[in-house]
Order: sequence, then C-alpha cells, then structure tokens
Amino acid sequence: MIIAVLGGGVLGEAVAGSLVSGGYEVVVAEKKEERIGELRKLGLNVTNNNRAAVKEADIVILCVKPKDVESAIKEVSEEIKGKILISMAAAVSIDFLKKLAPEAKIIRTMPNLAVLVREAFIAYTPDLNVTQKELEIALEVLNTLGKTCMVDEAQMDVMTAFNGGAPAYMSLIAEAMMYAGLEIGVERDLALTIVAQAMIGTGKLILQGKKTPSEICAMVATPGGVTIEGLFEMESFPIRHAFMKAIKAAVEKARKLSLSFSEH
Ligand SMILES: NC(=O)c1ccc[n+]([C@@H]2O[C@H](COP(=O)([O-])OP(=O)(O)OC[C@H]3O[C@@H](n4cnc5c(N)ncnc54)[C@H](OP(=O)(O)O)[C@@H]3O)[C@@H](O)[C@H]2O)c1
Repeated sequence: MIIAVLGGGVLGEAVAGSLVSGGYEVVVAEKKEERIGELRKLGLNVTNNNRAAVKEADIVILCVKPKDVESAIKEVSEEIKGKILISMAAAVSIDFLKKLAPEAKIIRTMPNLAVLVREAFIAYTPDLNVTQKELEIALEVLNTLGKTCMVDEAQMDVMTAFNGGAPAYMSLIAEAMMYAGLEIGVERDLALTIVAQAMIGTGKLILQGKKTPSEICAMVATPGGVTIEGLFEMESFPIRHAFMKAIKAAVEKARKLSLSFSEH
C-alpha cells in the first residue's frame, strides 16, 4: 500500500516518518524546495509533484494548512477519485472537502503532534459514503500513529482545541515542573527526564491502571506527608480554573476558524 502525504510541514513530516517506521511506503508531496531538501535528509521519499504522488497512492493524507486545502485538492481532483482521503486539517468540514473531491472517500481527523512518536490520540469522522472495508483500511494506517476514536463531526472544533493543542498544554506543565526542579537544585536534563517519565507513568496509571486523577493523588499524598504539603500550596492557585478557561478560549478560536473557513 502506498500513502501520499500532501504537505511536508510539522505534521506531514511526523506522519510520514511514523508511517515509514510502521512499515508503510510513503511519498511526501511538498512545494517548498528548501523543505524538500530537509525532508530528503531525513530519508523520506519526497516529490514536488502532487498529482504524481496522489496518482500512485492508495491513500492520501492531507497535511496542509486549512487555507491551502482548496488549492491542494483542486490540483489533484482527477487523481483522487475513488481514493481514501484522510484530512488532518483543522476547521475544514467534510462538506467542504466533498465539494472539491466528490468521488473521494473522506475521513476527517484531528490528531496531535504525538504522531511523531506514534502515541497520538486521533479523533475521526468518516463521511457516510466510506464503506466499512475502507474505514478498516484507514484505521489500520491511523492506528500506526496512536489511538483512534470516532467522534461526531460537530465535536471536531472541540477536538482541535482539546486534543490538537494537548501536547502544548502538557509541555507547559513539563516546563513549569522543570523550573521547579531547577530551583531546588535538580540538574536540567534530569529534571526534564523525571517530569516526562512521570507524565508517561501517570498516563499509564490512568489508561492501563484504570485510576482516576483523584485516586492517584490520594495514593501519593499520605497524611502529614511531603506531597500534601505541595498540594496544599497549589490550592492557593486556581490551576483547574486556568485550564478550563484556556481550553474554552481555544475552542472559541477553533469555532471562529471553522466559521470563517466555511464562509471562505
Ligand atoms: N502541527 C500540529 O500539531 C497539528 C495538529 C493537528 C492538526 N494539524 C493540522 O495539520 C495541518 C498542517 O499543519 P502543520 O503544523 O504541519 O503546518 P505547516 O508546518 O505549515 O505545514 C504545511 C506544509 O504544507 C505545505 N503546502 C502548502 N500548500 C501545499 C500544496 N498545495 N501541496 C503540498 N504542500 C503544500 C506548506 O508549504 P508553505 O509553507 O510553503 O505553505 C508547508 O510546508 C493543518 O491543517 C493543521 O490544522 C496540525
């Protein structure tokens, strides 16, 4: 199976690299000469010919910015007929894509940057004309990049803000913890390793250990102990409120983008 990745930017590079690691044959279609050189240095198969890339592919993954979706799809409108088109673009609806490529089998997705290490969460919505068999083929590809979950398309703006942005929010926590480590004299690299490993470990406690966050807190914070002292200090800062407000604002922004895009 050959997969064409349209757009070799941050996400396209991550998707292509991880699919190659997962054993797929991938061709990246990218316009910028400088970027083509960078991607080739990474060992990726790259072309500047979108039409040729889509023609030889069985599946096309769209990784261009929302503003470039229209021109990118129009360019390959003939070659994409009957093929599975996985769009990773924020804000761009299935309806919009269908107008550009009515005969493609469209699956709209919202992944996050963790596709780079094949640990992404990927929300997806298939168009109604996608058959069960086609969906299975697409999911096999997407599952190479992380965990997948079907959502209603109406949830996609929420997914853009919540899931697409999640690695940035987690990184903010990681950075704050690293600063805390530096302040108490833990060497920078060691501090970051401890924090990152704690994120992986806590994630696994939630997903595999089936613990809720409050159960984990209760198991770590013993009466009169060290951790409760730290948690007590944190109570004076509205941390949950900050996250709730930030993500709500991000959802509003994603909705505005979708709206402006559908009017575009
Ligand atoms: N980055 C993330 O964490 C993330 C997460 C979830 C979803 N997404 C979605 O993924 C998409 C790509 O995001 P990104 O962060 O990877 O953006 P990006 O770094 O700007 O990458 C897009 C790439 O596509 C190229 N391009 C533009 N038009 C093209 C065309 N017609 N054919 C081939 N290549 C073309 C761009 O070149 P130019 O720079 O010359 O235009 C650029 O190199 C967006 O729609 C975004 O919503 C991103």
